[in-house]
Amino acid sequence: AVTRTFSIIKPDATRRNITGKVNAMIEGAGLRIVAQKRLQLTQAQAEGFYAVHSERGFFGELVAFMISGPVVVQVLEGEDAVPAYRAIMGATNPANADAGTIRKELAESIEANTVHGSDSDENAAIEIAYFFAPTEIAA
Ligand code: CMP
Repeated sequence: AVTRTFSIIKPDATRRNITGKVNAMIEGAGLRIVAQKRLQLTQAQAEGFYAVHSERGFFGELVAFMISGPVVVQVLEGEDAVPAYRAIMGATNPANADAGTIRKELAESIEANTVHGSDSDENAAIEIAYFFAPTEIAA
């Protein structure tokens, strides 16, 4: 079925001016960017978005990284969008990512890993609603 997922192009990518490369890989995989905006996350926004990781040792660093520069938040639409996007993102750690994936080709490290994508349809809906009003999504 055609579904949606939520994506973040992270500060390591905006800093290197490669958001277009990421979008070309997204669109090349057949996913449609149906909403997109570039913004500077506040610390509270980043902490809230990653609340599920708040007990992890890397949480503070992760939040600091995510507010270190602008991000691009996106809604992607396509056939089974959640697994389709995860397949082209590649493994969290770029060292373990398959050739041709966004993280293998572009990511700097396990933290500065260029993109975030939702891990389930349920979380996709929550994450989309965290950043987008329904009127901001045009399919
Ligand atoms: P993401 O898919 O956005 O979900 C949580 C993020 O935490 C992950 O991508 C990485 O950016 C970061 N992360 C995960 N594991 C580690 C780690 N071991 N050290 C630092 N950052 C990590």
